Order: sequence, then structure tokens, then C-alpha cells
Amino acid sequence: YDVDWDASAAEKGGWDSFMDKEIHEDPAAVQRTLLGRFDEHGDVTLDEVHIDEHDFKAIDKIIVIACGTASYAGQVAKYAIEHWVRIPVEVELAHEFRYRDPILTPRTLVVAISQSGETMDTLMALRHAREQGSKVLAICNTQGASIPRESDAVLYTHAGPEVAVASTKAFVAQITAAYLLGLYLAQVKGAMFRDEIQQVLASLKDMPAKIQWVLDTQPEAIEKAAEQMVDAKSFLFLGRHVGYPVALEGALKLKEIAYTFTEGFAAGELKHGPIALVDEGEPVVFIVPPERGRNVLHAKVISGIEEVKARGAFIIAVAERSDKDVQQYADVVFWRPECPTLMSPLVDVVPLQLFAMDMAKLKGYDVDKPRNLAKSVTVE
Ligand code: G6P
Repeated sequence: YDVDWDASAAEKGGWDSFMDKEIHEDPAAVQRTLLGRFDEHGDVTLDEVHIDEHDFKAIDKIIVIACGTASYAGQVAKYAIEHWVRIPVEVELAHEFRYRDPILTPRTLVVAISQSGETMDTLMALRHAREQGSKVLAICNTQGASIPRESDAVLYTHAGPEVAVASTKAFVAQITAAYLLGLYLAQVKGAMFRDEIQQVLASLKDMPAKIQWVLDTQPEAIEKAAEQMVDAKSFLFLGRHVGYPVALEGALKLKEIAYTFTEGFAAGELKHGPIALVDEGEPVVFIVPPERGRNVLHAKVISGIEEVKARGAFIIAVAERSDKDVQQYADVVFWRPECPTLMSPLVDVVPLQLFAMDMAKLKGYDVDKPRNLAKSVTVE
């Protein structure tokens, strides 16, 4: 008799899509990217990077070049690295970078972030940077790909192969790797005290378990929200500080696989234009920053929620599980565990990945192979 064995199901490890499998690998992607990157004293050790400590010390500016999801990981890292290292970090879409005559010196570190390592736009941008005499460090998920091969140094994300076109676990791994780079720079340049660095490292190490909590407890609420919103014609995603790039990433996921017209904005920009789009029933997703320490941003985001709520919007919030204010206004809340603000993107993006996947599935789309998109774009 025939054994009912489906090779592709086996590859998906029991999940019904690669995207589902890969979202569930978010915790492992962070964990594996941290592995072996600090020593027993808690110092960051990036020996594999092969850029001289002396050269690292001299770096006075970072430019991140990337496309798509990788560029949003870069935007998240900008907040952290500027805060820790006190040097300017610019984040530029790779395809814009080369054509605007960027200011590059030997003291500029260009960081090329790419899951596949084959994105032609990013590759061309890094070639340009090296021609101008800057050092390029690649943050890449694919061993031996063109981008790491052509860079001066490489810091691999160990997310494991990503098959679904929409990037998920690579995003959290890219943030983790960029944070390690930031902490290493802070260490080399003496920009942070040792115990401060160790504190950040400890919070980073806590993140896989926090992501797991979201995966264990939130899927039902997320699926229910997707069922409720499946016919929505458009979505707005809003966030502030590191929640802003997370909003952009959440919006991108929904565009890519659910084909829903979606825009991400900085929540502070709401009153400068986007609020005109808000009408009765318009779904608006807010990334709510942590409340602790009377975070002013928290209050500002809550007041943004109030404003769109007053105009009849349907509010979906991603918020800390201890947040008391958000429930008053939000129609749906996806909860996440408490963590420091700079760590929050690693958990906040997870419900948005699941939400986009559920929306696409409900609409009957192939979540792993969305129309018109390629996993890696090897043309300029
Ligand atoms: C393509 C993919 C995106 C990805 C982007 C950058 O557009 O569809 O999911 O974020 O390329 O890819 P990379 O491999 O360079 O990270």
C-alpha cells in the first residue's frame, strides 16, 4: 500500500508553510546569532570579523545599506548604535545610496545587511563604498554569498536557511547581529562601561524566551483579529522610536503576502498628514512602547491612539502585557512580555509576522511564494 509521505511537508517540519515554520524559529534565530559572541567575562568577541581593533576605534560614522526587511533591521539598529556608541548612523536604501554621491571616508564603516547575500542593489552599493575607500562589513545569513565575499568583514546571522519569500526570522537575527556590532564598537571605543554592556547582553539573552512567550500565547488572538479584518482594503501601521521601523516592517509583510494596501508611518507624523486617511472602521495598528519609567513616548502613542479612535478607527495595538492604558482604546491587543525599549522590536515584530501570514492564508494566497516577488533580487 502507499505510504502517505509528502516530502515538502517533511521539509516544513510539520508546519503547513515555510513562513509558519520560520516565524516559529524566531527565538532560535536570535539565540544562535548570539552564540559564541561573548566570552566568559561577558566581553563581546567578534574575532571572526577580522577588522583590526585599531581600524574599529577610528570609525566615526556608520552607513547601513540594505533593501526591504534588512533595511528596517538597519533602522532599528540605528537607534541602538547611536545611543550606545555616540557616532552617527545613517540608513540608506542600497539602490539610492550609490546614485547620490554619498560622503565616504576611510573612517566610515559601511554595514551591508542582506539575508541572501545576493541582492544586486546592495552588492553594487558596497562596491561603490569600497571604491571610495570605506570598509564594508556584511551582516548576512548565507555563508559564502557574493555580499560577504566582497566585503572586508562579515558577521553572519545564524538564522538558518530562510525559504519563504517574506523575511521573518532573518529580521530578528539581523537586529541581533547589528546590536552585537554596536556593543563591540562601544567596547572598543570605550563608549560604555563594561557593566552597561553586560546588562544589554543580558537583556539580549532574555529575548528568545520572550519571543517564545508571544508564539505560545498570542496566535489565537492574532488569528481572530485577522478573521475580523480580512476584508479591510487598507491598513495603517504606526510606531515611534524603534517602534517606527517595526511598523514599517509590519506594513511590508502585509503588502508582500496579503496584497493589502498598507502604509507605515512614524506615529508623530500622524497629525502632519496621515490622519486624513482615517475614517470609520479604518484599521490602524499601533506599536506601543514600554510604559515603565514614565516613558514619554508611551503617553504620546496612547494619545495618538485616542485621536484615531475618536475618528472611528479600528485599533490593533501591540503592547506590553502590564500596559493598563492601551485596553481602554484598542479594539484588539497583541500582548508581549516586558523588556527594555531597545529590545522591543525583537518581540513586537512577531505578532505582525503572524498577522500577515494569517491574513494571507484566509485570503487563500500562497504565503511562501507571493506573486511578483523573488526571494533574492539579483538584478539592479
Ligand atoms: C527581496 C525580498 C525581501 C527582502 C529584500 C532584501 O525584495 O523579497 O523579502 O527583504 O529582497 O533581501 P536580502 O536578501 O538582501 O536581505
